[in-house]
Amino acid sequence: MVEQPDATERLDPEPIESPPRQRPFVHPAEAEFAAFLDFYRIRWVYEPTTFPLRWRDGHVAEMFRPDFYLPEQDLYVELTTMRQSLVTRKNRKVRKLRQVYPNVNIVLLYRKDYHELLSRFGYGSVDITSLRPEQIERVLLSAAEIQLGVARLGEQISTDYAGKSIVLVGVLKGITFFLADLARAITRPLALDYLQLSHTVEEGVHISKDLDLDIRGQHVLLVEDIVNTGVSMDYVLRSLREREPASLQVCTLLDKAERRLLPVPVRYVGFTVPNEFVVGYGLDYRELYRNLPFLCVLKREVYESDAPFDNLKQPAAGAREE
Ligand code: IMP
Ligand code: MG
Repeated sequence: MVEQPDATERLDPEPIESPPRQRPFVHPAEAEFAAFLDFYRIRWVYEPTTFPLRWRDGHVAEMFRPDFYLPEQDLYVELTTMRQSLVTRKNRKVRKLRQVYPNVNIVLLYRKDYHELLSRFGYGSVDITSLRPEQIERVLLSAAEIQLGVARLGEQISTDYAGKSIVLVGVLKGITFFLADLARAITRPLALDYLQLSHTVEEGVHISKDLDLDIRGQHVLLVEDIVNTGVSMDYVLRSLREREPASLQVCTLLDKAERRLLPVPVRYVGFTVPNEFVVGYGLDYRELYRNLPFLCVLKREVYESDAPFDNLKQPAAGAREE
């Protein structure tokens, strides 16, 4: 039976916000869930809101305070255990909350649903790569943090190029998602083009796929996923300068500044990262992990053992594609 909210008993439903404070977790499952969210760098607040659910004689007769609020997802989460009596009671409260506050998003979460929750946040590709959390040393930047950084870059670039149009040149393949997001965060007219680099013992760094467009007299913004030693970037910049663009600047999502051997002028940096192997959001280890929606540091043993990658096509010995 679906309960209907009793309009005659109801005052204006108004949630009660508590000021943020450190409350000890009531249940070990809450501490565990908080640790899970921290691992994925998903922001959370513990029990910030109390929702009056039922009124009698002008007084609140029933209230509900969900365990967590996730501000980036605008979602309340109520954890539940396996005890059926509790589940039934909590289900009823959640249903009632949805009736009284139709604009509030809330889920009732079982322990086994933690990873399912991630897929609701666009983390579904965690399954596709069969990436197990134990392969990740740690999450460096969450999907929400990346999007904030990309929006900031887009704004800055749009301001700097006011009155101009741009040719965005992406270095394949690591820029796949970054360039797609960045291009849509830039409000100037722009053209997109790509080049791809290859490293071989005989030739060193060289362009294996060149631009389609003629960039002479154009404002070119070269977009990279990560600048490490700067060797690739230095090579590309020299090649592009020869084509006499009106201007040439560099934007990189990640700057592994510690590792720099050649000084390269990077005008726009999304994030500076430590000297560790980073994958996700387009960056790969042997073509894997590109589709992770977040950036993470791989555990050393994952990239030191080749076994899990035996069934994948490897780049020819001595050649490395970006
Ligand atoms: P550099 O020539 O040493 O600056 O290397 C830059 C290129 O190496 C990048 O465009 C990436 O393709 C690759 N690379 C460097 N560090 C990482 C990493 O941590 N993860 C994935 N690829 C990386
Ligand atoms: Mg690259």
